[in-house]
Amino acid sequence: MKRLYKYIIKGGKPLHGEVEISGAKNAAVAIIPAAMLVDGVCRIENLPQISDTEKLLRILELMGAQVRYVSPGTVDIDCSGVSLSDRIFRYTRSIRASYYLIGSMLGRFGKARTTMPGGCNFGVRPIDQHIKGMKALGATIDIGKGLIQAESPEGRLKGARIYLDKVSVGATINVMIAAATAKGMTIIENVAREPHIVDLANFLNSMGADIRGAGTDVIKVRGVERLHGGSYSLIPDQIEAGTFMTAVAAAGGEVRLNNVIPRHLECISAKLREMGVAITEGDDYIVVRRDCPLERTNVKTLPYPGFPTDMQPQICVVLCLAAGTSVITEGVWDNRYQYVNELKKMGAEITVSGKTAVVEGVRSLMGAPVAARDLRAGAAMVVAGLCAEGTTVIEDVIYIERGYQNIVGKLRALGADIAAVSEPDEPGRMHQSSQESAC
Ligand code: UD1
Repeated sequence: MKRLYKYIIKGGKPLHGEVEISGAKNAAVAIIPAAMLVDGVCRIENLPQISDTEKLLRILELMGAQVRYVSPGTVDIDCSGVSLSDRIFRYTRSIRASYYLIGSMLGRFGKARTTMPGGCNFGVRPIDQHIKGMKALGATIDIGKGLIQAESPEGRLKGARIYLDKVSVGATINVMIAAATAKGMTIIENVAREPHIVDLANFLNSMGADIRGAGTDVIKVRGVERLHGGSYSLIPDQIEAGTFMTAVAAAGGEVRLNNVIPRHLECISAKLREMGVAITEGDDYIVVRRDCPLERTNVKTLPYPGFPTDMQPQICVVLCLAAGTSVITEGVWDNRYQYVNELKKMGAEITVSGKTAVVEGVRSLMGAPVAARDLRAGAAMVVAGLCAEGTTVIEDVIYIERGYQNIVGKLRALGADIAAVSEPDEPGRMHQSSQESAC
């Protein structure tokens, strides 16, 4: 019998101590598929141990790759024996990042066969810019009955000039992966600049690719015949770090976050400072302290270096505790406020209209039974539970564990009263793992 997990949090305890931030999930989910281009053994270090990375490694194994777990967070991948396989579909359907297989399969085999990706429900999540990029590189694409089939008639993609109509993290990454081994030069304009895009470029370059401009608006990829083996250590997770920062801001206390790149956190630090949270930065750590009342502010989410949409639910919890009225404007997704109804169960006063949420500060949140609606919405419920008076029970935490390595253990080490409990499944209940669930 399957078991369901819940988190039980007794809130109101300030957080104190140190926490190690894991490797970046969104870098990992791009780099694992990109490893398919590598001829030889590719060692990835600082890999977060979360269900999304496990699924992607499983996909590579089902395609014939040798995957060896060297130590926690370090894995050797040898893709010399890979081939296309429909056995991967049960995994590709459940994770968003499976769309990177289109680029990596086209780069490796000159053809691709996968399913439409899964995805947290933030409204419509098109992949037209990915498709536009692959077509520009010479691929023919056929989408139907949930399958994506692509083929480069000449067996190898051809470099091209591509302008993305929308700043898209996924399309930038996918086209960059596909172009790495295409023939000739690819210029991708109006690209996203997130830290994990730079990390993917650094990974590919360390394996022999020739990619310049990642982190700016234009990326130039000079295609190489093949990539060689090597080892690469992932950057720390910006959003995991940001989530711990909001947890301290909401629950109070003082925590040092180790293994971070403070520059990547500036967009989050700036907002928390406006609210009265003290943040000091070292080379690879930051210290977050909150010991006074929180002040209101406004937040607009934007592509990097703007405030990350993946931090919007978590900062909303902090705004709930600030004196006065704050306004959140979602600038990336159409529908990212599904967690608001859960927060209202805890006493939050939030009014949503389209892409705007107006948050009236309350004296405190109250513990309640709530559900994790998606990965970051679930993280917000954890932050809310930590600062709330009384007990919060969070259901569907499988979403949270897709993106946060050992979140319960890390919070307990900081003094939080949080436990993961399991209970037998109720008959007839649908499992999240079988739903589309990835961000
Ligand atoms: C990635 C992240 C996700 C984050 C998002 C924005 C991963 C696995 N997921 O998602 O957590 O919330 O970036 O930072 O890294 N769009 C199009 N056409 C496309 C692609 C995107 O119109 O072909 C639109 C989307 O609807 C959205 C916007 O562009 O409004 C940004 O999407 P995108 O940056 O592509 O998000 P993902 O890569 O899916």
